[in-house]
Amino acid sequence: MQFSQLRTASPEPQGTLSTALPSSPQLHPLRRSALKPLPLISMGKILGVVNQKGGVGKTTTAINLAACLAIEGLRVLLVDCDPQANASSGLGFQRDDNRRSVYDLLVGDCTADQVILPTELESLSLIPGSNHLTGANIELANADDRAVRLRNALETVRDTLDLIILDCPPALNLLTLNVLAAAETLIVPMQAEYFALEGVSELISTLERVRASVNPGLIIEGVLLTMYDDRTNLAQQVTETLREYFRERLYKAVIPRNIRLAEAPSHGKPVALYDSRSRGTEAYFELATEFLVRNKMESPRGVQRKAAAATAAKRETKVRFWPYS
Ligand SMILES: Nc1ncnc2c1ncn2[C@@H]1O[C@H](COP(=O)(O)OP(=O)(O)O)[C@@H](O)[C@H]1O
Ligand SMILES: [Mg+2]
Repeated sequence: MQFSQLRTASPEPQGTLSTALPSSPQLHPLRRSALKPLPLISMGKILGVVNQKGGVGKTTTAINLAACLAIEGLRVLLVDCDPQANASSGLGFQRDDNRRSVYDLLVGDCTADQVILPTELESLSLIPGSNHLTGANIELANADDRAVRLRNALETVRDTLDLIILDCPPALNLLTLNVLAAAETLIVPMQAEYFALEGVSELISTLERVRASVNPGLIIEGVLLTMYDDRTNLAQQVTETLREYFRERLYKAVIPRNIRLAEAPSHGKPVALYDSRSRGTEAYFELATEFLVRNKMESPRGVQRKAAAATAAKRETKVRFWPYS
């Protein structure tokens, strides 16, 4: 393995979301179990990007976090579990109903290695989504193992990867349940607005149910503020409330509203390849760095940078002391 992986120990958040805003919705009290310390990272960590709300930046986060970590040298697989297949088109794979997709995995028509596609980035691969996924909700409704189909299908490729990122549809349906059952940890992107707080409450109670049934180890890795505009009072108030509730699990990295992030998918590229100097690129690299630090992981590029810096420092010391030694 190219990076070190250790257990992280972090204090657990307490409190509820209902206090900071004057008329906050009634929020689900946080249970200690929902945010217990991150588990020991294994090869092929599975990370879900979830929020039952649409348009909060799930797909943008899944694509760009995956791309930034792949650029850092991690072997990343992005799995597009949304019938809208935005993560697939955002990586340049336009809609094609004949192409194999996550649907084929879920119904057992093929194995994961038969459906993985390479992308423009060498160390990023994709299992595309498709319109057929809408049908999977109904077709699998009576299967005993319907919630764990994705988890079982990914098992065969996990040890060839560092990270698997699952992009969710904006609903709490069977597809999302498959993501929640397969994931070890979750990133929850949200906008800093009043209704986001209601969504957190619903999400936390869903997590509790999933933990009690198919995935006892499931935890929230981090909450990410997206499309952020810190000029508004409301954004600052909501951020404060979320920080009080999630504490260090609220990422310090914040994704600003940035036109390059919105444009990149129409060019079929992650923002880092579309405009490497944009604020969007910078923000997602900050998130990737924070993700690595939290997981006590070192990327292959990070290791190279450290080695180069150490060599440069040695050289400088030699040059400085040579005339006197
Ligand atoms: N930080 C951002 N700045 C500007 N536009 C964004 C940003 N994040 C997402 N978008 C745009 O907002 C829309 C919804 O984002 P998306 O990632 O598809 O959300 P979700 O997957 O949660 O439905 C898309 O058009 C996307 O390009
Ligand atoms: Mg989406």
